[in-house]
Amino acid sequence: MAAARGEFSSRFGFLMAASGSAVGLGNIWGFPTNTASNGGAAFLIAYLVLTFLLAYPALMAELIIGRHAKSNTLTALKYISSGKKSRLLAVALGFAGMITVSFILSFYAIVSGWFVAYFFDPIARLLGMDGVAQWLTTDTVTRNSIFLIGFMILTIYIISAGVKNGIEKWASRLMPSLIIILLLLIVYVMTLAGAMDGLRAYLVPDWSRITEPQLLVDAMGQAFFSLSLGVGTMLVYGSYIRKEENLPLVGSMVALLDVGIAVLAGMLIMPAMYVALANGVEIYDAAGGLIAGPGLIVSVLPSLFSNMGFMGIIVALAFFSLMTIASVTSSISMLEVPVSYTVENHGVERHKAAIVIGSLIAIISLIITFNFDPLFDLVVTYATEVSQPLLGFFFCIFIGWIWSRNDILLEIKQGCPDAESGLFWKIWPFYVKFICPVAILVVYFQ
Ligand code: PFF
Repeated sequence: MAAARGEFSSRFGFLMAASGSAVGLGNIWGFPTNTASNGGAAFLIAYLVLTFLLAYPALMAELIIGRHAKSNTLTALKYISSGKKSRLLAVALGFAGMITVSFILSFYAIVSGWFVAYFFDPIARLLGMDGVAQWLTTDTVTRNSIFLIGFMILTIYIISAGVKNGIEKWASRLMPSLIIILLLLIVYVMTLAGAMDGLRAYLVPDWSRITEPQLLVDAMGQAFFSLSLGVGTMLVYGSYIRKEENLPLVGSMVALLDVGIAVLAGMLIMPAMYVALANGVEIYDAAGGLIAGPGLIVSVLPSLFSNMGFMGIIVALAFFSLMTIASVTSSISMLEVPVSYTVENHGVERHKAAIVIGSLIAIISLIITFNFDPLFDLVVTYATEVSQPLLGFFFCIFIGWIWSRNDILLEIKQGCPDAESGLFWKIWPFYVKFICPVAILVVYFQ
């Protein structure tokens, strides 16, 4: 291993970085729309239960392995393996995680690029540059390519600066801003006509749907994607946590921040949609469901903002800065996975690794942009619905069946000396060993 490793300088720094990774488009876009199309609060309850019963244990598995091995995903998994077969599996899982996370980043950068373009739209309108505003909000290959490249340059820039001066510094500034902007937007939208109908649609449960397989599959996918699990992101962030830190505690704080912000985002998006309806904007698709895909963010909400006069410009600026912040704090965590491996295992300088790997991912994004219809959904589906849960399953196998229980306890006890007598140690080992892998498989084969 070549370069000296970085470390988060404080608990706050880690919490902002890890919740920054977790809180992303999945929370602000995916969660509210999933809730709306799956029976409102019935989905919310299923999501909360699955997050704490399945995703939190898997998150802890990644954090514990990472902090113990203090290295990138591949090396960490190898480090806790005892036999030849498990070491081979470690290498396969490490590479599969890096490839999957790179593909997730490749579509994430495209979508984030749209939001950055929409962020500049109100500025252009404010400056009276209507032609530019029109260009910014028209879906073209040129616009999408320029903005995805810009977004990737920002991601590369932050990752080049390292753990403390890049990831921690940026997340510590951006995440509090995200929470403040989100709260201000909620308060404002709640004052508008139609907002209460949205809140009702969001929160009134349709209990008849809670046992529907589709609802459970969506809730589990949402929980895993939202906590950035299965691809090694949380493992790598865990490897930068100080040994004195209480892992079960910080892990639960990350999960709470993640679900908390998702629930809050629902209190913005759903009321905003119904406010749009009250303003004559179409919010239902041809099949009669709420518009949930890209149309929600790049059509329904912008139509609402443009109906709101000057206030609409301010709200649009706030909303798209919220989306951009959420995207950046997640994208940096994705790029860190392959970069940390390349720096540590191949002695490549961080700067260079970030530029080369980031550029390769940007090229994949460009290929997808130029072949959007055949490729975009395919990449999203394979990366998030096929690969990510399967990798999550193998992470649980590693911690439950391959790594020694004693070593796990010793690792947790650093920073949490009475871990053995606590509730976490009574429940969690059993969970990751039996419940999590079985549940992931059951949902997966649905
Ligand atoms: N958790 C992010 C979101 O909710 O948008 C997405 C994500 C980030 C997935 C990092 C995977 C990852 F490694």
